[in-house]
Amino acid sequence: MKLDTIIRGGRIVTAGDTVRADVGIRGEKIVAIGEGLARAQANGAKVVDATGRYVMPGGVDVHVHLALPFCGTTSADDYDSGTRAAACGGVTSVIDFAIPYGDETLQQAVDNWHARAEGKAVVDYSFHVAITHWERQKGDLKKMMAQGLPTFKEFMIYAREGWQSDDAAIYGALEALRDLGGMLCIHAESSRVLDMLIDRHHTPALMKKHGAYLHTMTRPNFIEAEAIERAIQWARVTGGKLFIVHMSTAEGAELVKRAREEGVHVLAETCAQYLALDDRVFAQKDGHLFATCPQLKKPADIKRLWEGLKGGEVCSVSTDTCTFTREQKAMWKGDWTKIPMGMPGLETLLPIVYTEGVLKKRLTVNEFVDKCCTTPARVMGMSPRKGLLQVGSDADVIVVHPTLKRKVDWRKMQTNCDWSPFQGRELAGFAEHTFSRGTQIVEDYKFVGRNGHGQFIKRASPG
Ligand code: URP
Ligand code: ZN
Ligand code: ZN
Repeated sequence: MKLDTIIRGGRIVTAGDTVRADVGIRGEKIVAIGEGLARAQANGAKVVDATGRYVMPGGVDVHVHLALPFCGTTSADDYDSGTRAAACGGVTSVIDFAIPYGDETLQQAVDNWHARAEGKAVVDYSFHVAITHWERQKGDLKKMMAQGLPTFKEFMIYAREGWQSDDAAIYGALEALRDLGGMLCIHAESSRVLDMLIDRHHTPALMKKHGAYLHTMTRPNFIEAEAIERAIQWARVTGGKLFIVHMSTAEGAELVKRAREEGVHVLAETCAQYLALDDRVFAQKDGHLFATCPQLKKPADIKRLWEGLKGGEVCSVSTDTCTFTREQKAMWKGDWTKIPMGMPGLETLLPIVYTEGVLKKRLTVNEFVDKCCTTPARVMGMSPRKGLLQVGSDADVIVVHPTLKRKVDWRKMQTNCDWSPFQGRELAGFAEHTFSRGTQIVEDYKFVGRNGHGQFIKRASPG
């Protein structure tokens, strides 16, 4: 069989197994896996040496925001820098959120997001479709699904942005998506009590005293937990499929675990930052940089989220990449309610989960692949094309050194950001080589891809 590329001599890691074998790529697909491919079939093929390395499916980050107009500015990583960062971090598929602004329809939002991505993306991409005005938009769900967009998003906060959904909208969307075979993603925070706590603390004296730490003081864990509990209740009674995005609390993990045991269709992701950082950062001099919604929590939450990954109630890890530079973050001028919320993450997702998870023995290397590649691809309707290293799947493959650490330094990274939440950390798990649909886009840790290589992924019903 004629092969274009052979990745030779590595240890292939999948969610279920680790085996020593070569990987054969022809065109955009994995066409052969076996011992001695390089010896038997090298004629003309490019051979990449993976001796002493892991060979894994590319990462699948199902929660990113690229060039998002938000909090009075636009997030700094777009489909160029954001997907270059993805490539160098070993992430070969991303799912962004197409959000309607003002009176826009779901179709207009999706068209806008296609325009942002086309010709720029260097890795493959899709969108969740945000529902911001349920009554007006509910008639268009089927049309979105026919375009390969089977997952939708509602926000329980962000009235200021015009994005907030109420309980009726959540109930209605779960019910409709149950019948259509789709899934509802939810940003779960309890807005009424949250807004009351924010108002209560929004005084010059408290802002002078606590600065960015007010972000955490006004968002106790019950703000997320109550919202998750309520969303689960709507999933329970409708039978609809629910996906809790960026879950950050121990209470959330417990609620999801119990609901799943009961048979409710609920899944939850967490993000790398909730597994590796806690809210003490808000007391630092530049603590406002770390502000994101929901905010970083306590060491006990970190511990429970890792246990949740092991136990299954946390099914995947993503980034919620929503990058703001120091200049953008400076818009806060001492008022935490004005901080552009979000942080960069695509380039450090796999290194953080690998270093904090695999090297610290919280996850096996197979669980790492499961949580960062296989399960997110499956639950978002991208299997078997994405998230799997098997014959017939897209040749989205990364080669990773099992122990070699590299120091995080935003100056040497692809992001447009001028800071990193993980600046100075020594992390293993960066992609030495990244292949996207058979094309090498990272070689020896250097980006060698091109804009426009990334394609829109038409997704099926969530698995
Ligand atoms: O603060 C965040 N996470 N910004 C992005 C929007 C969202 O809530 O996901
Ligand atoms: Zn959110
Ligand atoms: Zn988000």
